[in-house]
Amino acid sequence: MELTGRRVWIVGASSGIGAALAGVLDARGAHVAVSARRESALRDLAGDRMAVVPVDITDAAAVRRAAHQVVEELGGLDIVVLSAGYWKQLTEFDAESFQQHLDVNLSGMANCLEAVIPRMQAAGAGIIVGISSVAGLRGLPGAEAYGATKAAQINLLEALRVGLQPKGIDVVTVCPGFVDTEMTETNQFPMPFMVTAPVAARMIADGIEKQKARIVFPWQMEVFAQLAPLVPDRLWARLFRPKK
Ligand SMILES: NC(=O)c1ccc[n+]([C@@H]2O[C@H](COP(=O)([O-])OP(=O)(O)OC[C@H]3O[C@@H](n4cnc5c(N)ncnc54)[C@H](OP(=O)(O)O)[C@@H]3O)[C@@H](O)[C@H]2O)c1
Repeated sequence: MELTGRRVWIVGASSGIGAALAGVLDARGAHVAVSARRESALRDLAGDRMAVVPVDITDAAAVRRAAHQVVEELGGLDIVVLSAGYWKQLTEFDAESFQQHLDVNLSGMANCLEAVIPRMQAAGAGIIVGISSVAGLRGLPGAEAYGATKAAQINLLEALRVGLQPKGIDVVTVCPGFVDTEMTETNQFPMPFMVTAPVAARMIADGIEKQKARIVFPWQMEVFAQLAPLVPDRLWARLFRPKK
């Protein structure tokens, strides 16, 4: 599938993977609109090449208005990339932090989906790209809240792929391994096979072009994604037991 001329809305584009992807898609000829809360970062990225539509995705009404503005500015919408995300390592189980993950990663994604699906259904075409994580494939200590929301995103996106297929809408689930972004810069644990945001963006753009249903990278994490579900529960718990 050609990205040239596609009208793409990237939500969560003020930094990291979303910002890098905006650059890659622009370079491949797409017409790009970028959203997140930090307007100045969006404007620095966009220059005069991209539409800038600031929004907080936890505000459903604001997301509806933003989607409307994006469609006005781009003249339609072919692809939406949902990259906005929140991560905090839990040292003690903490319901408030859990809620924050739910608000951004799940309700925020749902607000964006609600704003774009009817438009794509009316057009009879569209591609929804959701950025989940390999952290959603199995439970890991410290990622109880993040991993739970990422697992839920994987399930949500799969259900949508099945249900929206007859309407001409495809759904792509992206499961990155570790990517060097603001999200990971304060992590104090080992992050094997980490890639840069531009590398991640290229992998995602390539996967969209190849019409993949699931994009997992780097390759070492793709192997992990294949093997992790096969590991018995007790062995998994032993393998990832925190050191005292
Ligand atoms: N980095 C990794 O290792 C990694 C691995 C797997 C998956 N991921 C996933 O990849 C996605 C992008 O993360 P990243 O690594 O690129 O991190 P990042 O640089 O921190 O980017 C997160 C983006 O989400 C936006 N955002 C956060 N809360 C928002 C809200 N309430 N409303 C609108 N936008 C919001 C941020 O912009 P504002 O602050 O300006 O709103 C920013 O643009 C996330 O879904 C993350 O879970 C990351």
